[in-house]
Amino acid sequence: MSEAAAVDQYGLVGHPVAHSWSPFIHGLFAKSTAQDLGFRIFDIPPQHFRRDILQLFAGGIRGLNVTLPHKQSAADLVNELTPRAARAQAVNTIAFFEQSTLLGDNTDGAGLTADLERNLQFELADKRVLILGAGGAVRGVLGPLLERELREIKIANRTPHKAQSLVNEFADMGTIAASGFAELRGPAYDLIINATSAGLHGQMPPLPAGIVGDSTVCYDMSYGRVDTPFTRWAKEQHAARAVKGWGMLVEQAAESFLLWRGIRPNTQPVLEALAQHF
Ligand code: ATR
Repeated sequence: MSEAAAVDQYGLVGHPVAHSWSPFIHGLFAKSTAQDLGFRIFDIPPQHFRRDILQLFAGGIRGLNVTLPHKQSAADLVNELTPRAARAQAVNTIAFFEQSTLLGDNTDGAGLTADLERNLQFELADKRVLILGAGGAVRGVLGPLLERELREIKIANRTPHKAQSLVNEFADMGTIAASGFAELRGPAYDLIINATSAGLHGQMPPLPAGIVGDSTVCYDMSYGRVDTPFTRWAKEQHAARAVKGWGMLVEQAAESFLLWRGIRPNTQPVLEALAQHF
């Protein structure tokens, strides 16, 4: 057996995933918690997702993080869902347990709320929140946000009927509104979360100016070394803060690590290490 195969193996699956920071993050988690494990990246196209994932688990991999565009396929593939993944119908973490059980979890919402509340000291209760996008990323965060006693929450999407479908799906948890981008109006929101993938293509959803005020926090679930199109726009609108999603990335990874290894790593040193790079 090779040395690499001697320790428990984990990974990230997505398409594309070449430039992921997850191996760096999980590597630091493993070191700080004295866990012996390996973490690799698997670029798997949608048409091979099921076959290749089952092969990875048959080959002994213990757990996977799942990212774009596979989160909903992963929810269909696993044998069991945690309550929060069942609520989301989207999976960003798979753990392989005994008796061939693949457990699907969703740590995106816990990652976002941990970053907002713990790292950014943003109190969600009684806030007016606007979410941009209605894809897999939004599915994961809606439940945890709706648990926070928000004053108002709206989902705006390029394709408005997809926002409406999500609203219908989560209506039992609270009142949510749906709209297209063109119908958005002020007064300014307290928090605007960009969960579209527009930035990956260097694009920015067409948003009116009145939705940002000088106390609005603009949070992009995307991240990069430089400003994203959304954080650049937020700064142009004089938002109170324009935040990239590094903290959510690290916090959701810590929750995944907890599911896999039974220990939640301290995220602060990892956030500080990442800050050296961006
Ligand atoms: P994810 O898992 O990251 O949510 P997804 O399920 O493919 O990925 O969803 C992508 C989201 O980004 C969708 O809300 C999509 O809008 P549509 O439902 O209209 O497709 C949104 N999106 C992608 N490109 C966009 C763009 N250029 N402008 C605005 N929204 C965009």
